[in-house]
Amino acid sequence: MSNRTGGVAAAAPVYTDTPVRWFALAAVLWGVVGMLVGVIIAAQLTWPELNLGIPWLSYGRLRPLHTNAVIFAFGGCALFATSYHVVQRTNQTPLFLPGLAKFTFWGWQLVILAAAVTLPLGLTQGKEYAELEWPIDLLIAVVWVSYAIVFFGTVGIRKVRHIYVANWFFGAFILAVALLHIVNSAAIPVSMTKSYSAYSGVQDAMVQWWYGHNAVGFFLTAGFLGMMYYYIPKQAERPVYSYRLSIVHFWALIFTYMWAGPHHLHYTALPDWAQSVGMVFSLVLLAPSWGGMINGIMTLSGAWHKLRDDPILKFLIVSLSFYGMSTFEGPMMSIKTVNALSHYTDWTVGHVHSGALGWVGLISMGALYHLIPRLYGRKEMFSKRAIELHFWVATIGIVLYIAAMWIAGVMQGLMWRAVNPDGTLVYSFVESVKATYPFYVIRLLGGLLYLSGMLIMAWNVVMTVKSNKPAVAPVPMVTAHA
Ligand code: HEM
Ligand code: HEM
Repeated sequence: MSNRTGGVAAAAPVYTDTPVRWFALAAVLWGVVGMLVGVIIAAQLTWPELNLGIPWLSYGRLRPLHTNAVIFAFGGCALFATSYHVVQRTNQTPLFLPGLAKFTFWGWQLVILAAAVTLPLGLTQGKEYAELEWPIDLLIAVVWVSYAIVFFGTVGIRKVRHIYVANWFFGAFILAVALLHIVNSAAIPVSMTKSYSAYSGVQDAMVQWWYGHNAVGFFLTAGFLGMMYYYIPKQAERPVYSYRLSIVHFWALIFTYMWAGPHHLHYTALPDWAQSVGMVFSLVLLAPSWGGMINGIMTLSGAWHKLRDDPILKFLIVSLSFYGMSTFEGPMMSIKTVNALSHYTDWTVGHVHSGALGWVGLISMGALYHLIPRLYGRKEMFSKRAIELHFWVATIGIVLYIAAMWIAGVMQGLMWRAVNPDGTLVYSFVESVKATYPFYVIRLLGGLLYLSGMLIMAWNVVMTVKSNKPAVAPVPMVTAHA
């Protein structure tokens, strides 16, 4: 157990920052790896022969490797690092069971390595975002329960009465992911590498998308909102715009997300009423999502000028604008008639990446840029200009990626539904693939820019850790007002 940040005051508790440091560095490493695989599959969609005829380099195997690496390795490590950091600072106490926290680090890295080996080998349960086979699922469950014990144990031994809102979001994320993972992974093993889902038919589909949508709601959203509620006030040195709104935001968001899953199963064998329930709850979800976005952005009110020359704040605030965009787009896509056009097209992929690159990616990067120098007792990151460059390269990359996918998606949807007066299709499927080609090239370019930004970050992080700039004077937590 060590404290190289210096704590918050002379009598401040000695924080357990070793696992925080490990997870922060791992997030950067896995960010580079996951995005590199994203660029490779984007290139394969443009030039399919890039799989070189080797089965384990084929698109179908690398795609889940990409999604698992960016969501669970990059996003997961960023969430572990920030939640362990935030829970200690806001509760004024070191981590409960530091040894168990270190176990969560090694256990999680083992899960990532197991995924990196089994997915290219083609070992999969075939459920999106829950592909890993049952022995790895068991390991995930053990690591996750340990994570819950460390996190809630730390809240339990807190030295302050109030539980700051960021902890509510992190806590909901940890509990919901445990529930989703355990329910959706129920399976009957037939060998070490093969199992069959405990559910069948349409129930299996419903459980899977209850899981899938709440993976978006709790893994890709609630946890990152926890980050948002701590690091934006910290970086801006302003209290949260409205603490009351943050509480309403919390309860409304976690209640509503749970019911929206069926929007992934429009026009399927799922009963029509269940599809409609999914659509209605998705529309309602716009309100809490935008409430949270406004709360984050307005935290800057009266200090907008800080955006001009603080690149870390740019990451944090622009991430919220992408959050707002994707949580407007999502409810629109959940409307059945809109989904009839968007489903199966690249519009979905555009929506996913405005959330993933814009929201999840940028908020994580901003939080890590805030966190890493403090974890290593440095005054600031090695190069502020490199952070600024990263911000612009990443933002241009996102815009290229998502604009290309939106145009491609709407075009595909329209081409597939175009019919001649005699009822035959105007376009064959292959014609729509050919028409998509230029957009795949643009997406690849956007992805390359985004990856370059991540490489700049990795360099900056290495230089920060290696450099010996003087230690930072700790910034006191700006207390939130009601
Ligand atoms: C350099 C950056 C990235 C590139 C080039 C990239 C590229 C891709 C490509 C080509 C696909 C497959 C699309 C398809 O099947 O048609 C994909 C899927 C996906 N990516 Fe990325 N990606 C990047 C970063 C990220 C990040 C940072 C995240 C999450 C935090 C993410 C999450 C996803 C998800 C969830 C899917 C599945 C989408 C779906 O099933 O509709 N990606 N990505
Ligand atoms: C109010 C919030 C949101 C709603 C109502 C919503 C709604 C939707 C809808 C309707 C789809 C298309 C389903 C289909 O046609 O297959 C979708 C796909 C998806 N969304 Fe969202 N979305 C929201 C926010 C987000 C955010 C913030 C992210 C990422 C951080 C995200 C990630 C995804 C992913 C990964 C998929 C693709 C799932 C798949 O098919 O693999 N969504 N969303």
